[in-house]
Amino acid sequence: MSLIPDDVIEQVREAADLVGIIGEHVELKRTGSDYRAACPFHGGAHRNFAVIPRKGMFYCFVCHAGGDVFTFLMKKLGMDYPSAVREVARRVGIAIPERGPTGPDPREPLYSAVAAAADWFAHQLRDSPEAQIARDYLKTRRLDLDTVLPLGLGYAPKGKAFLEAMKVLGVRDEVLLEAGLLAKREDGTLAPRSRGRLLFPIHDLRGRVVGFGGRILGEGEPKYLNSPDTPIFHKGQLLYNLHVAKHAMRKAERAILVEGYFDVLRLSLAGIEEVGAPLGTGLTPDQAQLVKRHAPQVILLYDSDEAGLRATFRAGDELLREGLRVSVATLPGGEDPDTLVQKGGAAALEQILEDAVDVLERKIQILDRKGFFGTLPGRRRALDRLLPTIRAAKDPITRELYISRAAEAAGVRKDVLEREVGARGPSTVLHPPPPSSPVLPASAEKALLLLMLEGEPWKSRVTDAVDPEEVEFAPYRAVFESVADDAVLALDDTSARAYELLKAEGLGGRDPNEMYELAVSWMEARRLERHLEQLDDQLPFESPERQVSLIAEKRRVFDELRKRYPRYKIAKRRRGAPGP
Ligand code: UTP
Ligand code: MN
Repeated sequence: MSLIPDDVIEQVREAADLVGIIGEHVELKRTGSDYRAACPFHGGAHRNFAVIPRKGMFYCFVCHAGGDVFTFLMKKLGMDYPSAVREVARRVGIAIPERGPTGPDPREPLYSAVAAAADWFAHQLRDSPEAQIARDYLKTRRLDLDTVLPLGLGYAPKGKAFLEAMKVLGVRDEVLLEAGLLAKREDGTLAPRSRGRLLFPIHDLRGRVVGFGGRILGEGEPKYLNSPDTPIFHKGQLLYNLHVAKHAMRKAERAILVEGYFDVLRLSLAGIEEVGAPLGTGLTPDQAQLVKRHAPQVILLYDSDEAGLRATFRAGDELLREGLRVSVATLPGGEDPDTLVQKGGAAALEQILEDAVDVLERKIQILDRKGFFGTLPGRRRALDRLLPTIRAAKDPITRELYISRAAEAAGVRKDVLEREVGARGPSTVLHPPPPSSPVLPASAEKALLLLMLEGEPWKSRVTDAVDPEEVEFAPYRAVFESVADDAVLALDDTSARAYELLKAEGLGGRDPNEMYELAVSWMEARRLERHLEQLDDQLPFESPERQVSLIAEKRRVFDELRKRYPRYKIAKRRRGAPGP
C-alpha cells in the first residue's frame, strides 16, 4: 500500500520530536514554552521563526512559512509527503508498511493548487492595498492581523489578480476549476469563485488546505460562500479546525461544537482549542463519526435562538447515534460564542460550558418551560419530541437513563415507555413503499409538508427529522422553510400557490403517524442514495487502493439501503457509474 493510513500518520506526528528535528537545521533558542530561530526559509537575520511544540507546528512571522513536522521536512529537504512521514516514522520507531507498486495520488495537483492559492490569499490579506477593507473588518471584529495570519486567513480580491498570479505560478485553469477556486460564467469565461471576501482556509485531517469559507465584507448574500465539494473537499465529511482541535480533544476528552468560523477562531484564540464547526450544513453522520474518533463527549454550543436550538437537537441526535455523550451549553440571548468571549473572556465561556446540561435534559427543560407537562395531551406531545432523542441514543446505558428520565418527566410507567421506544426503534423502521401508495401522497416531500401544515406536533416532528435543504422540489423547500420559521407571508408567487394547494388538500383522511414514518424513512433512504451518488462522483479521482475501499463502502451503503428500505426504488444514476 502506498497510502499511509491517517491514524498512522497521526501517531507519527504525535510521537515526533519536532524541536529535535527542526533543531538539526536551525539554531533554536527557548522562549517560554516555544522556541525561536532565524528563519531557514527566507533567511532573515532576526528570530522570527517560531517552533511551537504544544501545537506541533512552526511558523515564520515574516515569510509566513508554517506547518507541522512533515511540512518542515518537505520544505527544507524537498521531500514529498509520504517520504517525510516515513522519515519521521523511522526516527520514532513506528513501522509503516512498505510502498506498493502504485503511483502518486492523482489528486496531488489539486492539493498543490489550493495550497498555492491559500498562500497567495494570505499574502493579499497582509499586504495588498485592496485588502484594507478586510483588515479594517477584522478590527471591527476585534481581531489582530497578527493573530489571524498564522491561522492562514486570507483575502480574495475582486478583479483578475488571482487568475494572473496563478498563471505566473504555472497553476492551470482546469485544475483551479476542479479545485473550486474558479467558476465558469455563462459565457464560458472564468472568474475567481470568491471575490472581495475574507477567507477562512479549511483543512483536512492531515492539515492540508482543501477549501475555503469566504465571508462577505459588509452586507450582502450569501454571507458565507464556501468552496463547492471537490475531489479533495467534502463538506459533510470534515469539520472546520479539526486538524488542530483533534489533539486538544484527546487531551480534554471532550469536543465543543459551535456554528461559525468566527466562533471557532475566538475560542481557539482564548485557549479553548478542542473546538470545531460544521461547514454551513447541519451536522452529518460522517461528522459525528469523526468527532467520535477523538473524544467521548461533546458539548454543543450553538446560538440560543429557534434556529440554533433546532440545529442543536438535530446535531445532538446525530452524535447520540454514534454513542457519544452529548450536552448542550446555553448562551445568554443574543450572544454567540464569539461575542461572549469578546466581552467576558475565556472565563465567561468556561462558566457556560460548566453549566452545560445533557441534551435530553435540555429538551425536557424547554418543553417544561413551554408548559408541555401541565396537561395530558401536552405530555403525549412532549414524549413525541423526546422519543427521537431516546431512540437515537446508541449507548445502552445512556438509553436506559433516558427512558427513566423521560418516563419520570412525562409521568408514564417506564415499561410502557420502553415498549414505545422499542416499537418504532431503528430495527423495525417501516419500509417505505414506492411514492404512490395509498398512505403516501404523490411524494414523501409533499407528505412532510401536509403534515407540517397540520400544526403541532407534526411541524416540530418534521423539522426535527428533516433539513430544509433536503427538500429538493424548490417551491416545497420554500414552503418548508417558511412554515418552519412561521414566515409564510414571505413566500414568492409560485411557492405561495404551492402553499395554498397543499393547505386545500389536507391529510385527506390519511393516518398522520403512518404517513410520518413512511415519509421520513423514504427521505432517509434517499439520503443513502445521495451518499452513493457522491461516492460515484468521487471514485474516478481516487488512487486504486482508495477506489477499492470506496467500492467497499459503496457496497456497504448499497446493502444498507437494500436491507432497510427494500421497496425504495433506486433512481438511475445521474451519470453512468464510473468503474475503476
Ligand atoms: P452565522 O450566520 O451564524 O455565522 O452562520 P456567524 O459565524 O455568526 O457569522 P458572523 O459572525 O456574522 O460572521 C454560521 C455558519 O454557517 C455557515 C458558515 O459556516 C457560518 O460560519 N454559513 C452561514 C454559510 O455557510 N453560509 C451562509 O450564508 C451563512
Ligand atoms: Mn457570529
